[in-house]
Amino acid sequence: MKSFNFTVSEVMTKKTKPASNQLAFGKYFTDHMFVMEYHHKKGWYDGQIVPYQPLTLDPASMVFHYGQTVFEGLKAYATANGEIQLFRPEENIKRLNRSNVRMCIPPIDPDLALSAIKELVKLEKDWVPKAEGTSLYIRPFIIATEPNLGVEAAKQYKFVVILSPVGSYYKEGINPVKIAVENDYIRSVEGGTGEAKTAGNYAGSLIAQEIAEKEGYAQVLWLDAHEKKYIEEVGSMNVFFKIDGEIITPKLNGSILPGVTRKSVIQLLEYWDLPITERKISIEEIVEAHQAGHLEEAFGTGTAAVISPIGELNYNGEKLSINNQKTGEIAKRLYDTITGIQYGKIADTFGWINIIS
Ligand SMILES: Cc1ncc(COP(=O)(O)O)c(C=O)c1O
Repeated sequence: MKSFNFTVSEVMTKKTKPASNQLAFGKYFTDHMFVMEYHHKKGWYDGQIVPYQPLTLDPASMVFHYGQTVFEGLKAYATANGEIQLFRPEENIKRLNRSNVRMCIPPIDPDLALSAIKELVKLEKDWVPKAEGTSLYIRPFIIATEPNLGVEAAKQYKFVVILSPVGSYYKEGINPVKIAVENDYIRSVEGGTGEAKTAGNYAGSLIAQEIAEKEGYAQVLWLDAHEKKYIEEVGSMNVFFKIDGEIITPKLNGSILPGVTRKSVIQLLEYWDLPITERKISIEEIVEAHQAGHLEEAFGTGTAAVISPIGELNYNGEKLSINNQKTGEIAKRLYDTITGIQYGKIADTFGWINIIS
């Protein structure tokens, strides 16, 4: 890996760190952040670690008007022997660059992005919480900063990395969540921006999420845009079902976000020699399997919650209770294995861990 030198300006006074039982998700931010500029004549330049602070932007910055922006989400974990480690950061950086291509944002040298993340986390190592289930969430993002109201790709950008100590994403933790199947709104369509991690996908999904939450559901399950028939993914997770022993996840089709956890789950299931299939799966197939007593498990996968068992699916008012609203055997095994590797309790035979030296 190439090495990079970033200017570091440290804070004079450090913040008081929150208690680990107060963390929730994305509410607290560390003392420093990473910032780097892009200009079309210079490329990416001037990478710096600076005190965490507001960004000052021209009101005509293109990100405010046309949403040209991408982001990532990954975590740093504290191990029992005092090391800090990242889980598959190279995958997040690859996805960042794929999102960049889709959103006409210039790519970042993967080694440069990884160095920025590692240097920042290293400086903020005291912010990595140690209590069970906690971690330091890493949020790299890029925004178009050129002041210009023309609808075109910007010529100037900012790459920023911020860090947030986090607890569990759902108040339910590893316990099953309730998910509502979304019948009115759609998240994305092939050829759209669904497979990119870009703000508009999330802004457009908030209304469905709000309605679902009012009815007591944690998130929505999105269906395909053409027929509202095939399952895509959950709000911030990919989704897996176990029917009659076979584990099925929707095949990536251009409108689904290719999750790093999804990829890891597939690799683990294959390694365990369990039947895992990536294919189109309709909501009707799930309802029928449930009626026949063959729907054994359902769970979501994502960096924030790792594995989130689904205890209930609501489809058109019909409530499908899954596995007696209990965490299934596969979900538990995956959760234990992935978190075991992340926290250094299980040997990483896959090369997924990147230790911060
Ligand atoms: C829409 C969406 N799908 C799936 C995922 C899961 O992806 P990952 O496993 O990389 O966190 C996320 C979270 O980042 C997401 O926002």
